[in-house]
Amino acid sequence: MPKKPTPPAVQIEVPTAPVAAHTVDGRPYSPGLEGVLAAETELGLVDGVNGRLMYRGYRIGDLVARGTFASVANLLWTGNWDPKARLTAGRVPSAVMAALRALPRTAKPMDALRTAVSVWGATEVLDWPPTEVQARALTEFSPSALAAFVRLREDLEPIEPDPKLDLVSGFLYQLTGERPDKATARALDAYFVVGAEHGLNASTFAARVITSTRSDMASAVCGAIGAMKGPLHGGAPSEVVEQIHKVGSPERAEEWVRDALARGERLMGFGHRVYRAYDPRARALRTVVEAMSTRPDWLELAIKVEDVALKVLEEKYPDRPLKTNVEFYAAAVLQGVGLTPDLFPATFALARHAGWTAHVIEQASANRLIRPDARYTGADERDLPA
Ligand code: ACO
Repeated sequence: MPKKPTPPAVQIEVPTAPVAAHTVDGRPYSPGLEGVLAAETELGLVDGVNGRLMYRGYRIGDLVARGTFASVANLLWTGNWDPKARLTAGRVPSAVMAALRALPRTAKPMDALRTAVSVWGATEVLDWPPTEVQARALTEFSPSALAAFVRLREDLEPIEPDPKLDLVSGFLYQLTGERPDKATARALDAYFVVGAEHGLNASTFAARVITSTRSDMASAVCGAIGAMKGPLHGGAPSEVVEQIHKVGSPERAEEWVRDALARGERLMGFGHRVYRAYDPRARALRTVVEAMSTRPDWLELAIKVEDVALKVLEEKYPDRPLKTNVEFYAAAVLQGVGLTPDLFPATFALARHAGWTAHVIEQASANRLIRPDARYTGADERDLPA
């Protein structure tokens, strides 16, 4: 039985921008479901007006500073804060390895990851209802599968997981064959904390829709990966890197930004559908990257570009706050830990496994088949042509 609606635990302001809803035969219609409340969740609060993000009430900045990806995933799955929680890289079943070997080396990492999760789901018994045990197994499996694909496409043999390493260090080890230093592992772990959960975004909604049919967790995560692959969702931190390289030098920053806006281009790493304030994830990642010894050499230039871009965007859109979003500093962290830009979206997906699987469990715990209605705009009733 679905839960009875309860009053929200935390009151948040909603943007005053008009919601694209109007009425069709007495019912509200909102293309893209914008402004529609379609689920209740205790997992993540995204407060776009005030620039706040919390997982189960804990501020993202505190979770980055004092938590680990394992403790955050455990918090999302169980509701308990256990700073000693552990996750390690899982084994890749032989059926998955065979599928990865069969892929063309030109396959996109997101396609390889989706394929791996699909085959993994076919090798596991994933009974209803989905459980924390399933969530943990899938979250531990996927980094090993992605690392295996990356090595295979480079004609290198996959590396067995090292159970002594935690999940994020284990992922880097399985990618490169080298155990990462503490600072590098910590920086990528912080990125995973920041990427773990973000409310009812498109991929999480896709996972909840699939779960609502009583399908299994692997199917829900396959669908979520497919949704996140789209450029409107998975974001493009690699485009931030390209943009910074195009600017070239701090002296050119203001001219470049003004020219780009005059050409009608969008500045990558700025603006967000929900946030009207500075994205708290960007703030947390900026702190992380500034502390990295392996930060990319373009970071100083990026900070200059950010200052200029914020000033110019404010001049151009005085009524529409366009602030830095998570992608701006995500690019710097991911490049700083040695990942190539084509791995950025799939690495984001690995982090989001925690949130997706937590939403799958939450959806199943108070399930109602998600089945909205469409406004029919087709032809009137008519006879088939003779
Ligand atoms: N640079 C320049 N202008 C912008 C930007 C930007 N980054 N973002 C929005 N605008 C402008 C739009 O052109 C529009 O102007 P107009 O009214 O003159 O047409 C106005 O601001 C409002 O924009 P919307 O399209 O309503 O903004 P929306 O909320 O739909 O878009 C989005 C959000 C897609 C993130 C947008 O800000 C954007 O394209 N940003 C750049 C790409 C980017 O950084 N993506 C990563 C997002 S974070 C993530 O996916 C995890």
